[in-house]
Amino acid sequence: MVESIIDTTMRTLSCSDINHCERTMKLLTFISFKGGAGKTTALMAIASCLLNRGKKIAIFEADDNRPISQWRDYARTKETWDENCEVITADTLEDFEAGYGKAEQGGYEIALVDSQGGGSELNDTILINSDFVVLPTALTVLDTDETIETFKYVVSRLADEGGDMNVAILKTRVPTGKLTKAQTRTSELLDELPIFTSVLHNRNAFEDMKFRGLLHQTAEKLEQNPADKLLAGNFHTAIKEADTLAVDLLDALQGEN
Ligand SMILES: Nc1ncnc2c1ncn2[C@@H]1O[C@H](COP(=O)(O)OP(=O)(O)OP(=O)(O)O)[C@@H](O)[C@H]1O
Ligand SMILES: [Mg+2]
Repeated sequence: MVESIIDTTMRTLSCSDINHCERTMKLLTFISFKGGAGKTTALMAIASCLLNRGKKIAIFEADDNRPISQWRDYARTKETWDENCEVITADTLEDFEAGYGKAEQGGYEIALVDSQGGGSELNDTILINSDFVVLPTALTVLDTDETIETFKYVVSRLADEGGDMNVAILKTRVPTGKLTKAQTRTSELLDELPIFTSVLHNRNAFEDMKFRGLLHQTAEKLEQNPADKLLAGNFHTAIKEADTLAVDLLDALQGEN
């Protein structure tokens, strides 16, 4: 499939110099079989931080509820968007391949994928072309069970292709207070698998992001209003957390070179 994407790009570019046509854009996929695991929110937070670090990014939206397009549309009305972020819908393999070629030509450095639930031909193609796969999960027993199933699925797809196992679990919606015994147990169980040491906590800023726009731009707007100073502080705390994760991901993608 990597080959086929390169071929598509080459055809689109009608380029005679192979060096201009090599895959340069990194593909970062967020996936979970369980609905509501926190995929879209984690992607939005990471996207905000990558943009703030000056990256030009594309987001492939495979979810037909279109949460990313809605996020962008809200953000544009509130002037909390960054046009260095292109949203590309990808409901089918053809959409994905065409979008991929377009994004590479557009000079996008990283493409983030908000994937569809479950296994599909589209998901399999995206997975085997991913430079890194993130599996967000909350700390409930049900989420953990589904995460382990998703992990096994992702690893088996990557193994079929003989690719690198660049996959890690991300704990999200982690309570800011003390964990219950059950949460501690599931957290320790997940620690047995490849996992990010940084987590995303359960924060209003992450929850509100879909109605407010990019994290940094939102914090900046809130700061302009003295009544929103406290809220701005909450956004800054969330930003710090998400940025630690973004740096971990950038390091992981760098290791891919
Ligand atoms: N770290 C967090 N802090 C607070 N709320 C969160 C966090 N992560 C996710 N949420 C909230 O949990 C809900 C589900 O999250 P999200 O939509 O990101 O999950 P998803 O895996 O993309 O779901 P779907 O399977 O429907 O696409 C949303 O209302 C979101 O705002
Ligand atoms: Mg989603």
